[in-house]
Amino acid sequence: MEKVCVIGAGSTKYGKLQESITDIAVQASAEAIESAGIEPKEIEAGYISNVFGIADKQVHLGPVIMSNLGIPEKPSLSIESACGSGSVSFREAYANVAAGFYDAVLATGVEKVTHTGTEWTTTYFSYCSDFFYEGGAGASFPGLFASMARAYLAEFKATEEDLALVAVKNHDNGLLNPKAHLRKKITVDDVMKSAIVASPLKLYDCCPFSDGASAVIICNEKFAKAHTKNYIEVIGSGRGGSPAALQGREHLTTIPSTNIAAQAAYKMAGLTPKDIDFAEVHDCFTIAELVDTEDLGFFEKGKAVDAVRQGLTKLNGAIPINPSGGLKSKGHPIGATGIGQVVEVFDQLTGRAGERTVKNAQIGLTHNFGATGASCAVHIFKSV
Ligand SMILES: CC(C)(COP(=O)(O)OP(=O)(O)OC[C@H]1O[C@@H](n2cnc3c(N)ncnc32)[C@H](O)[C@@H]1OP(=O)(O)O)[C@@H](O)C(=O)NCCC(=O)NCCS
Repeated sequence: MEKVCVIGAGSTKYGKLQESITDIAVQASAEAIESAGIEPKEIEAGYISNVFGIADKQVHLGPVIMSNLGIPEKPSLSIESACGSGSVSFREAYANVAAGFYDAVLATGVEKVTHTGTEWTTTYFSYCSDFFYEGGAGASFPGLFASMARAYLAEFKATEEDLALVAVKNHDNGLLNPKAHLRKKITVDDVMKSAIVASPLKLYDCCPFSDGASAVIICNEKFAKAHTKNYIEVIGSGRGGSPAALQGREHLTTIPSTNIAAQAAYKMAGLTPKDIDFAEVHDCFTIAELVDTEDLGFFEKGKAVDAVRQGLTKLNGAIPINPSGGLKSKGHPIGATGIGQVVEVFDQLTGRAGERTVKNAQIGLTHNFGATGASCAVHIFKSV
């Protein structure tokens, strides 16, 4: 296999955006191309992740984006894997470069949903669950993650204030990220007093609905060296699956696909969780970050809550989690999220993260899943 590198990254601001889905996707892609210092024609293929293009009247996004970039003759693949679409798209791009099919490709993720309103967006998103058992029976994603939260609080004697600490930390990080959706300092008290969405989860325990696009340029080592000195290498890539509906799982306090994907990525990289300097994880709800960091092996089962209480996951802690602000504060434009995590790792490891830079970091990990973790991908990167 070829060594695979990321040599450029770009992102729109996340939030409520006015431009069309095509415009924001092209904007992020053009920024990634410019940051890599390459010409669009040097890109040999595009991997485009999106879930609800239909909400902005544009599906078959691949050829539309390639045409707008001035390279209509280059092939593209549109990829949907719910909230995990971005990391699956990245994985496909990675695998094709590793296999030697292409020297350099574009991976762009995009979502544009806020204009449909909360009721419609909640309905659309529920189509990503196992609709027969979950969405169709009235369970929204806040409701499903609330079930996991109830089980976690009961099993590990954690409190709603512990969940709130995750939100407070991620909002603190998001304040340092100019492209984050919710840039607002909050306290545990603010979280506790915010409106209940699905008990025990309150407004500030939830990620928002966001629009946004992110893009990266992925290439082999020879191409990277010929174009730049400022790049990162992909050293681990793993994917995993879980029963689609929560009722099919043995426990509600673990997401099997995370562990399967992480073990594959660690094995490929020849690393253990202790070697990771920071991670961008899928914190769609505060409970998810606790479960994720245990399933990724950073903490023993039931111990993530102690880590959060001790501040170990803060920007200056032993293992910073979600320096970007995470889905909670940076935002969650679902088709873009997984690529946005890679953009953050690129920014961190190439000196572009400004005030939120994790000190002395050399190895970063991304973790992104679809729905309640039915599908998952984990990637590990190192600075060069
Ligand atoms: C939490 C949620 C129900 C809030 O929706 P809502 O009540 O319609 O909120 P609105 O969009 O009307 O916004 C109301 C206010 O709350 C803020 N807000 C909205 N969502 C927020 C969130 N998740 N966290 C903090 N503040 C939020 C808005 O900025 C707005 O503030 P303002 O009045 O100062 O402008 C919705 O964001 C949600 O369902 N999030 C989860 C999305 C999801 O399931 N994603 C997939 C994960 S698997």
